[in-house]
Amino acid sequence: MSSAEVKTQTKKAPEQTAAKKIAVLGCGKMGTILLQGFLQHGLLSKAEAVATVQHEEHRRALARELAGVTVTTSNRSAAEGAPVVLIAVKPQALPQLLEEVGPALAAETLVISIAASTTTSFIQQHVGKDVHVVRAMPNTPAMVGAAMTGICAGPSARKEHLEMTKKLFESVGRAVIVDEKHMDAITALSGSGPAFTFVILESLAEAGVSVGLPRELATTLAAQTLFGSAKLALETGHHPALLKDAVTTPAGCTIEGLIELEKGGLRVTLMNAIIKTTSRARELMRA
Ligand SMILES: NC(=O)c1ccc[n+]([C@@H]2O[C@H](COP(=O)([O-])OP(=O)(O)OC[C@H]3O[C@@H](n4cnc5c(N)ncnc54)[C@H](OP(=O)(O)O)[C@@H]3O)[C@@H](O)[C@H]2O)c1
Repeated sequence: MSSAEVKTQTKKAPEQTAAKKIAVLGCGKMGTILLQGFLQHGLLSKAEAVATVQHEEHRRALARELAGVTVTTSNRSAAEGAPVVLIAVKPQALPQLLEEVGPALAAETLVISIAASTTTSFIQQHVGKDVHVVRAMPNTPAMVGAAMTGICAGPSARKEHLEMTKKLFESVGRAVIVDEKHMDAITALSGSGPAFTFVILESLAEAGVSVGLPRELATTLAAQTLFGSAKLALETGHHPALLKDAVTTPAGCTIEGLIELEKGGLRVTLMNAIIKTTSRARELMRA
């Protein structure tokens, strides 16, 4: 970090008047989605949040986007005195960041990491002290209040730390507390899941275009159908096979499409995508 950047940060600090509630370290795509969600849902005010990024030009752009939130490139000053530190850097940047902020963290700090592949004990070890570590795996639908987040406790996290984390993430969607052994699978299924779903959405819309529908209409039909089907499964709790059978009239149209899906190996392709992504999440920090 240059001395010019340090000067910018010291200039920015006095803007914060309210007590700091959360520091978001590595406020990129996911960090910003979450922070904006927490702000929109009234969990904290802009004056109670601090965010960090690595590069000065991004700092300036983010400070404009989040006008009112202190944005800095100094992780240590951001973390200092924050009761909750949310870490949202890429897994590879995590060890260095943890060693940098470790000395600034108080023993009672709740450290929440959303980094894929990185275990709570790894985080604890690199922080170098017994803070309360919780891991969370949200997804991008947090942007519209429809996230799915898996949460697990580290060795020193207590029930109240899990509950506080759950409350934060429930402000942007659903959240479930799980055993840490499930986090890599959750990373694949719901963390990466939106990417797979958007490929399905794009393909359905493209198919609509190929059978003559205007693109915008085809995209709306496909998106609302995915949304409605997911809502139906969630709200009825019925098995997906039962819901599928309700659409499939004997000798009707739907069965013809289903046969094509089987021929194309859709099910096994989706299963393999999740299995491969889980394996990648398992090996990422061990590679
Ligand atoms: N994207 C998702 O859908 C998703 C979902 C769940 C979890 N996650 C997890 O969220 C994390 C971030 O993913 P992302 O997609 O949001 O990536 P991203 O957009 O690249 O954000 C990472 C941010 O970290 C900042 N950064 C890097 N090193 C830093 C340092 N030493 N100090 C302060 N800031 C630093 C970068 O700043 P600059 O921009 O200045 O370089 C960047 O803004 C990953 O660990 C990922 O596994 C992502």
